[in-house]
Amino acid sequence: MTMRARRWAVVLAAGRGERFGAGPPKQYRCVIDRTVLEWSIDALLAERRIDTVVVALAPGDRRWRRLPHAKNARVMTCIGGKKREHSLSSALDALQGRAADRDWVVAHDAARPCLHARDLARLLDEVDGDPVGGLLAVPVSDTLKRDEGDGRSRGTVDRANLWRALTPQVFRYGVLRRALALCVDRDRAVTDEASAVECLGLKPLLVHGRTDNIKITHPEDLAIAEALLRARRRGR
Ligand code: CTP
Ligand code: MG
Repeated sequence: MTMRARRWAVVLAAGRGERFGAGPPKQYRCVIDRTVLEWSIDALLAERRIDTVVVALAPGDRRWRRLPHAKNARVMTCIGGKKREHSLSSALDALQGRAADRDWVVAHDAARPCLHARDLARLLDEVDGDPVGGLLAVPVSDTLKRDEGDGRSRGTVDRANLWRALTPQVFRYGVLRRALALCVDRDRAVTDEASAVECLGLKPLLVHGRTDNIKITHPEDLAIAEALLRARRRGR
């Protein structure tokens, strides 16, 4: 009998939010009635195909234990690292002995509270039959400029075939582990899971996502997230 591949979600919530600025880190800012982090975890827990969510927290995080999710049986935590990829590695370590190499890891930024249930469902559907795995992404729609470090436009970059990578990103547990190890070995920058997997010579599937799956980066993004989530609650 072959066991079905399980799906484990990893929520990356160990960042310091330096671009967001002073005060509590952005993942603990409130949107409507709960924190950004809770919105992000809830979007994953609502998908029944996901068994467990592993949340990577910053060392010394004292806010997590006050959230109801800290007592949820489908949620576990680990201590993240200095960079995003270190937090990912630590979450994969936490899954060692539980996750099989062929299981799927659904990695999601805590800072993306507006993940839509249908986007997540479509991503899981499309990746299910794929040999590599994939990610939500959006074709670039703005005209792109390149400067020479002087803040003046030197030229226009062709945006054909360019995508913005979002999360979630879904890859096999074993593939992700090998990919991260190779990147450490070759001292390659890892900005997302797909960039690590590309190091193995594999080509992640780009799954067309919604443009409103925004990442909270600057303070003004909170108001945008709030408007999006309120509209969604009203069924729009
Ligand atoms: N992240 C993480 N561990 C890190 C760095 C980032 O888990 N060492 C997480 C963040 O918490 C966030 C996601 O990765 O949910 C995307 O990163 P980003 O938007 O860059 O968040 P921060 O690194 O916190 O923000 P900044 O770069 O402005 O400091
Ligand atoms: Mg960062």
